[in-house]
Amino acid sequence: MTTVASAESLPGLVGQKVEVRGWLYNRRSSGKLHFLEIRDGTSIVQAVAFAPELPPELFEKLGALPQESSLVVRGTVKAAPRQALGVEIGLESAEIVGVAEPYPITKKEHSPEFLLERRHLWIRSRKQHATLRIRARIIKAIRDFFDDRGFLCVDSPIFTPSACEGTTTLFEVPYFDDEKAYLSQSGQLYAEASAMAFGKVYCFGPTFRAEKSKTRRHLTEFWMVEPEIAFGTLEDVMVLMEDLVTYVVGCVVKDRLPELKVLERDVAKLEKVQKPFPRMSYTEAVDLLTKKGHPFEWGGDFGAPDEAEISGQFEKPLLVHRFPAAIKAFYAKRDPQDDRLALGCDLLAPEGYGEIIGGGERATDLAFLEKMIAEHQLPKEAFEWYLDLRRYGSVPHAGFGLGVERTTAWICGTHHVRECIPYPRMLYRIVP
Ligand code: 4AD
Ligand code: MG
Repeated sequence: MTTVASAESLPGLVGQKVEVRGWLYNRRSSGKLHFLEIRDGTSIVQAVAFAPELPPELFEKLGALPQESSLVVRGTVKAAPRQALGVEIGLESAEIVGVAEPYPITKKEHSPEFLLERRHLWIRSRKQHATLRIRARIIKAIRDFFDDRGFLCVDSPIFTPSACEGTTTLFEVPYFDDEKAYLSQSGQLYAEASAMAFGKVYCFGPTFRAEKSKTRRHLTEFWMVEPEIAFGTLEDVMVLMEDLVTYVVGCVVKDRLPELKVLERDVAKLEKVQKPFPRMSYTEAVDLLTKKGHPFEWGGDFGAPDEAEISGQFEKPLLVHRFPAAIKAFYAKRDPQDDRLALGCDLLAPEGYGEIIGGGERATDLAFLEKMIAEHQLPKEAFEWYLDLRRYGSVPHAGFGLGVERTTAWICGTHHVRECIPYPRMLYRIVP
């Protein structure tokens, strides 16, 4: 009996007859042998075609089949310790499904532009494929983490009437009868409303920032998970950040080692991601920069090089808390010990990756928020519903947002976040 099997399941099927459906990734031939590397989406398996065991016409066709042609192969799974999978298929029959045209992505070096232009094909390549498999594992780990800890998934809308993270990075879209809507920059304000209804919640979806940044950590569309906790404090969310990041990294190391190997990731560095994480206040971080001969004026926001310098002191992620309120969003709660500070916290990933989480406690006082909305020149009408949360049973609450692509870039050791989302959207790229 022949069973249809995924390439990744073959190590458990030695001695059995299987059918694998996929695409020709690579081929080597030597006399009476063709070594066909077949990728099926789960992994890559070598199928060995031996001339005396196949119809001559099929053997010849397989020997001329272009890269990325689709095919179905059948044969017996055999142990092959030198193969990455540890097994190979002794080919007994095959059907060619679609003969490919000459494939544009070859073994030679291609420019990032060339590859991004062909992102729909590039995701078939080994490293891109590994990165996106890890991204999917990260997303599952995030959902499992919150679902298993009593958080309810309550998603926030993407079309919104107002800004959350500031008006300079809003994408505006027409919305019926001369109305305007904005693409959400963060689900947080709605997550706060959801927390007042359900206690512990998270929203998880795409967010949009019209940032004219061309750095390696900026996308215009990225995914963010945002937990929010009624009666939660800054301390609660700092511990939650630590638990979440430790859990997510642990899941990837446990389940995606072959992919981390493809990416040549130093797994020992990921294994060091254990609680507790070091902590430092913004003011201490500024002092550290100054001591390192990297003068920084108190009050400014850290740029990527500052973050790299600060977090470079540690092998684990670093929690930086109590930033100047002036550089934070209108909703940040002030530190009762020092009114210049916001009760916020960023998590900086090690190895120069910098901020992957931002969050903290939210202001609870109606009059204070009305004042902040005016100071930030935000349209008050659009925030009336949000202010209702302070009118009807206001409570201390806190939450944060973790960016999926920056987290994936750090865990994979990928230089640029554009490789950490299937189809990146950036300042100068919206195709394919
Ligand atoms: O620090 P940010 O702007 O925080 C918020 O949006 C809060 N409202 C979250 C909350 O408290 N619920 O963004 C949070 C995270 C960043 O740490 C980063 O990982 C990611 O979102 N991020 C981006 N990722 C890719 N491209 C961009 N342009 C990003 N901007 C933010
Ligand atoms: Mg931030």
